[in-house]
Amino acid sequence: MSEKKHAHLVALTHSTGSHLRGWRHPNTPARPATDVKAFVEVAQELERGFFDALFLSETTGVMPGPPEMHQYDSMVNESLDPTLLLSAIAAATEHLGLITTASTSLTQPYTLARLLGSLDHLSDGRAGWNVVTSRFETEARNFGIDPRQLRSPVRYEVASEFVDIVKRLWDSGDDVLAPRGASAQAREATQAQLVDHRGTHFRVTGALGLARPPQGHPVILQAGMSEDGRELTAREADLALGPGGGLQAREARQDLRRRAAAFGRDPDSILVLAVLPPVLVAETRVEAEAQLREFAELLGPVERQNPGVIAGPAIGLADIMESWLDEGAADGFVVPFPYLQGPVAAFTRLVIPELQKRGRFRTAYAGRTLRENLGLPRPAPRNRPTTTP
Ligand SMILES: Cc1cc2nc3c(=O)[nH]c(=O)nc-3n(C[C@H](O)[C@H](O)[C@H](O)COP(=O)(O)O)c2cc1C
Repeated sequence: MSEKKHAHLVALTHSTGSHLRGWRHPNTPARPATDVKAFVEVAQELERGFFDALFLSETTGVMPGPPEMHQYDSMVNESLDPTLLLSAIAAATEHLGLITTASTSLTQPYTLARLLGSLDHLSDGRAGWNVVTSRFETEARNFGIDPRQLRSPVRYEVASEFVDIVKRLWDSGDDVLAPRGASAQAREATQAQLVDHRGTHFRVTGALGLARPPQGHPVILQAGMSEDGRELTAREADLALGPGGGLQAREARQDLRRRAAAFGRDPDSILVLAVLPPVLVAETRVEAEAQLREFAELLGPVERQNPGVIAGPAIGLADIMESWLDEGAADGFVVPFPYLQGPVAAFTRLVIPELQKRGRFRTAYAGRTLRENLGLPRPAPRNRPTTTP
């Protein structure tokens, strides 16, 4: 029984939910985007359901859309900085992984190495980073850069150099797990090493001034599936976001594993997560459809035709997830919710026990860090002598 493949589960939200009009649901708090207590409650519910992680997306500018949306939709207009929000959540949770989003096109490697290294320390090894290159004109304008720069093919070359420097900066501190009283040679292998990087896009000479993070490197997630996006994933990422089920998903997963092997990596060191549509689950199909109708009432006439949300009983969703795991189409799932208050608890109350009953999901956290819960190795430092303590 225990040979069945277990699912990894990561909950995704942008601010108040993954549907543009989710904030209109009566269960949603009055100022949802800045209600830290409400986010903490959602995170604690995810932890009770043994989710691997909460993943917060981010755009550093309002998303494009009709002007009236920017005015009225807090989902589009407002969100707390995800890394700061996750640091508040870290203090109120113990096991849940905390995946933030930050762009390699709009900042410097040192800034993100310090921010994410700090998140890993203050959460005792639960940090993750969704590496994005940013897309929208509104984002470029907030930073005073030419929007064409974000769309340029060079952006992934920049991202690749950026991530490598960030990892070297994490490795520039003494290893937080280095044994005390080890031999001089062993200590040398774990002591601070200056980064001296002179590359095509960045010059960094220095050190982070922070002990190596508990996970060595916080977990790296990459969602881009273009040719260049896949290359970055294969070279640097721990988690990739692939298409849903079917042949296309299986091929995408195999392709990423092949590319990882070509970079000298163990293909099992990349997990591919299928992104589900926003989910509403209930005990029965009739109840789920009633919820979907209620949700559709909140939408404008155009959106009502295509709410993009799946609704159904837990059994049906568990069937789909099981078949994708067995087909080799996914190692787990990214689960978005149209709004947070209600659907998250329904998922942990109904879908998690169904997956557990089928031997497809954990019944307790196995590890201490996000990496351990994902079953991923702690990476060796990049800029050190290779002597092991
Ligand atoms: C589930 C999911 C979440 C994403 N979250 C973000 C995000 O928070 N911020 C962002 O700028 N891009 C985000 N993206 C966009 C990707 O990083 C990537 O730019 C996009 O999928 C296009 O891929 P490509 O750059 O390889 O063409 C997300 C994509 C997916 C599929």
